[in-house]
Amino acid sequence: MDASQQMSPEIAVEVRGLSVEFPTANGPARAVTDVSLSVARGERLAIVGESGSGKSVLSLALMGIVGGSGTITGGEVWLQGQDLLALRPEQLRRARGRDIAMVFQDPGTSLNPVISIEAQIVAPLRRHLGLSRAAARERALQLLAETGLPDPARTLAAFPHQLSGGMRQRVMIAMAVACEPTVLLADEPTTALDVTIQAQIVDLLSRLSSERGSAVVFVTHDMGLVARFADRIAVMYAGRIVESGPVLDVFAAPQHPYTRGLLASIPAVDGPLPDRLTQIDGSPPPLTELPAGCAFVDRCPSALPQCSSSQPALTERRPGQVAACWATATIDVSHREAVSA
Ligand SMILES: Nc1ncnc2c1ncn2[C@@H]1O[C@H](COP(=O)(O)OP(=O)(O)OP(=O)(O)O)[C@@H](O)[C@H]1O
Ligand SMILES: [Mg+2]
Repeated sequence: MDASQQMSPEIAVEVRGLSVEFPTANGPARAVTDVSLSVARGERLAIVGESGSGKSVLSLALMGIVGGSGTITGGEVWLQGQDLLALRPEQLRRARGRDIAMVFQDPGTSLNPVISIEAQIVAPLRRHLGLSRAAARERALQLLAETGLPDPARTLAAFPHQLSGGMRQRVMIAMAVACEPTVLLADEPTTALDVTIQAQIVDLLSRLSSERGSAVVFVTHDMGLVARFADRIAVMYAGRIVESGPVLDVFAAPQHPYTRGLLASIPAVDGPLPDRLTQIDGSPPPLTELPAGCAFVDRCPSALPQCSSSQPALTERRPGQVAACWATATIDVSHREAVSA
C-alpha cells in the first residue's frame, strides 16, 4: 500500500462500471450505464436527477437487485472486500441488512403483509447482531421511537396494513438502520413524511453516519435536503453520472450544463421567490435510443458538434469534482485523465 492509499479514507462501497438494462419491444432500455462511484465510511452521498434518470435502478443494483426482467450487464460492487454481484444467493442474503441495507422508494412493497412488524424487525436484529429476543425487542422499540413514531409498542404489535403509509415508511427506515449497516441506501426516504418527521429522520441518518461510520447514499429531489445533509452529490442524467463532487463546490460552480439547469430551477433560500421556476426545456431521449454522444445534447445551451457523436468522459475540474461535458471541459482537457466519480 503506498502513502496516498494509506491517507485516503476507508472506502465503504465502490461501484465500477455498473450497467443495467431492461428488455423492451424497442430493444434494450439502458437504465444505468457505466456508473462508477465510491463512498467512504461516514460519508453521505446524495444522488439527484430528474424522474427516470436511473436513481432507483442504480440503488437497487447496489443491493444486487434488479426488477422485472432487467439484467446487470456489467460492473462490480465492492463491499467489505467482496464483489457483491458475484456472491452466491445465501452470501448475498447474509450481506443484506448487516453490510448493506436499503430504504425502498415504495415502502408498500417491501414489508411482508402477513408478518407482524415485531417479527420483521426483531428477526434481523437477532440474526445479524446475535441479540436475545428481549434485547432485540428493546432495540426495536428504541429505533421506532427514534423515527418519531408516537407509540412504538403498538406499532411493533401491528401488521403492515394497520399502519398508515408514513408509519410504514418509518418502520422501513427503522429496519434498515437497525443493524447499523456499513452502507445504507435510502431512496427518497422522507418524501411521504411531513416536515417535522423529516427532520427527525434526517437526524437519525446523520447519527448513523457520524456515530456509527455508516456510509449513507440517498436519493432525493429535495436540493435543500442535499445542502443540509450531504457531503457529496452525484447528478444522474439518462442513466449516467454526469457530475459529482463536494456539495458546496458543485452548488457554487456546477460544471455540467444539466447540473446548472437543475440548480437554476431551485429558488435561493434567502433570495426573492422567482415568478416561476426555471425549467430545462425538452426531455431526455428514450433509454432505448441513447445517442452515441452526450444524452443531454438536444437540451444543452452549450452543445458543440462533437457532443452528438462522442461520449464525454468524467474529467476532474476541481479537487474531487468531476463532470462529463465537452463544452465546459475548457482548454486543457487533453492532458487530464478521465477519472471515475
Ligand atoms: N422493472 C422495470 N422494467 C422495465 N423498466 C424499468 C424497470 N424499472 C425501471 N425501469 C426503467 O428504468 C428507468 C430508470 O428508472 P428509475 O426508477 O431508476 O428512475 P428514477 O431516477 O428513480 O426516477 P424517480 O425520480 O421517478 O423515482 C426508467 O425509464 C424506468 O422506466
Ligand atoms: Mg426512483
